[in-house]
Amino acid sequence: MRKKKEPEMETLMMPGDEQGVAQAARLLTMGALVGIPTETVYGLAANARDKQAVASIFTAKGRPQDNPLIVHIALMKELYDVAVNVPPQAKQLAAAFWPGPLTMILPRSREIPPIVSAGLDTVAVRMPSHPVAHALLLACGLPLAAPSGNLSGQPSPTTASHMYEHMRGRIPLILDGGACAVGVESTVITLCGPRPMVLRPGAVTPEQLSKVLGQPVALSRAITSGLRPGESAQSPGMKYQHYAPKAQITVLMGSSVDYASYVNTHLRPGRIALCFEEDVPALRVPYVTYGSARDAAGQARQLFSALRRLDEVGADTVLAHCPQKTGVGLAVYNRLLRAAAFRLVQV
Ligand code: TXA
Ligand code: MG
Repeated sequence: MRKKKEPEMETLMMPGDEQGVAQAARLLTMGALVGIPTETVYGLAANARDKQAVASIFTAKGRPQDNPLIVHIALMKELYDVAVNVPPQAKQLAAAFWPGPLTMILPRSREIPPIVSAGLDTVAVRMPSHPVAHALLLACGLPLAAPSGNLSGQPSPTTASHMYEHMRGRIPLILDGGACAVGVESTVITLCGPRPMVLRPGAVTPEQLSKVLGQPVALSRAITSGLRPGESAQSPGMKYQHYAPKAQITVLMGSSVDYASYVNTHLRPGRIALCFEEDVPALRVPYVTYGSARDAAGQARQLFSALRRLDEVGADTVLAHCPQKTGVGLAVYNRLLRAAAFRLVQV
């Protein structure tokens, strides 16, 4: 039997205080990778201007080279270093939602090496609101390229210890900034197409975006359905298997009563229900909950840890109760559906 590969480096976990932030800033300036908390999920950060450092993000995550990264900034003036021809709509959205969980796709500036955007002439930019991310961006004075801090294809980390499980031995430092307040990745909107279009739903909802822009935003078809064979993704990330635990998930759409009766009559060893708290009393099977049916923000906060929990309890198949698609619920629906490879059944 071949010996398991030893971790290449020691991964430190430091609190996101002054000392931790200073150490992280030093490492980033030297071209190293650092795990950082944001209000959405933990990110795997590198100096966005350093193409070698950025290349090491792809290696550490096992990320496909054609999936572009998000550049994080702390101040509005930095937007003009990383993007060019910034349209008025971007300024309106920044004024309304930054710092916060919104990423905008804009024309890329030459200061950002092509590898950050996987060769595209656009760049994804976001100004996070998490105080540790903000302090770190100010301390290092660099735009930071950072995808979610998970191994490619798996659920994003919403705590420092989740990130540690994936990145241990691969990066020198993770800053602990507590559990993420939002729990799903930022809303991604492109301002480079014929009209503003949401490519990935998040805590900033299409309704909120439409209101600020004074026109309805379009929703990418990839949010609610898989790509057809041969179809190309507007956001390269959309084409990959994502957020998936080891178990095979099927999403069941229906009332609490119909969900429970379906699950109770389709028992099998290794089968687990992924449900709302309200579903629990009627269930006669093992379950993992992901919040209340009436609280989409709570579902968003809990979904990724619930997906991890399914692995911990050894789930082999999962019957998940479908969330409402409204508001932040659309983001929860999108992540769950992708984790289920779009297996959706009406019960
Ligand atoms: O909340 C978040 O956005 C987190 C935290 C760490 O900021 N980051 C994150 O990054 O979720 P990542 O790499 O996991 O997701 C970035 C998404 C991918 O779907 C990617 O394809 C898309 O944004 N994206 C990035 N640059 C793009 C571009 N130039 N054009 C279209 N899509 C782009
Ligand atoms: Mg990701």
